[in-house]
Amino acid sequence: MFGCMPPRDVLLTVGNEILEATMSYRCRWFEYLCYRPLLKDYYNQDPNMRHESAPKPRLTDADYRKDYLSDKIGVQKRLEWTEKKYFVTTEEEPLFDAADVLRFGKDLVVQHGFTTNLKGIDWLKRHYKDHRVHAVNFPGDPYPIHIDATFTPIKEGLIINNPQRRLPKEQRKLFEDNGWEIVDSAQPAHNEPPPLCYSSTWLSMNVLVLDPKTVCVEKSEKYQAEQLDKLGMEVIPVELRDAYAFGGGLHCCTADVYREGELKDYFPKQ
Ligand code: ALA
Repeated sequence: MFGCMPPRDVLLTVGNEILEATMSYRCRWFEYLCYRPLLKDYYNQDPNMRHESAPKPRLTDADYRKDYLSDKIGVQKRLEWTEKKYFVTTEEEPLFDAADVLRFGKDLVVQHGFTTNLKGIDWLKRHYKDHRVHAVNFPGDPYPIHIDATFTPIKEGLIINNPQRRLPKEQRKLFEDNGWEIVDSAQPAHNEPPPLCYSSTWLSMNVLVLDPKTVCVEKSEKYQAEQLDKLGMEVIPVELRDAYAFGGGLHCCTADVYREGELKDYFPKQ
């Protein structure tokens, strides 16, 4: 379905390991194969690199709630369902997409929603024994699929949050206790996504942070660029909107595989 456009959805780099996610859409089951030639190269070049693959799910009918996505369900009902954490995927087997996971040094923050279930989050907990894994929800999102148009860390201590999908009060403790600020993101510059785009207009906040001072923002997203500029970032405009139909924005279509620096503890107060 998405070809090789959004590696972020499939690959999760933590420490010296790149993990292939289980994925949760049937049409995305084979997508990891796109990246295997690259992963093979990294593996051959770096004797410390670990290449892992989470258990491939069976994705039988038992994984999905029948008719959940029917057009007959109104937005109101959908919002009630997401509020109750009643999602299209069941708890039949562990499911997660890598794009539901945010990495903050020793802490991994994972969105529980359509593409990642609780068994998937439990699998991640058991896998990343040296990390702390936290589940989060964004009840304002009727289609909670991937965290990177909802909750985007910009630099140490600062996160922008989609104002239609705010992190609930009770889940803010970890961030507040450790002095992190969560601010509403700017509005998107567009009223609707471009043709055939699978995501929402909130790809405006699907930005790519290069380092604590530099961020790439889609060229037409003037409000998002302005906000990040005011927040002290150097903004690099990148034209990508015409490629959204292939699977997402700047964050989705990139995946970091190498980083300098050490593993930090950004949330010592737990
Ligand atoms: N699911 C995300 C959005 O479209 C990518 O907002």
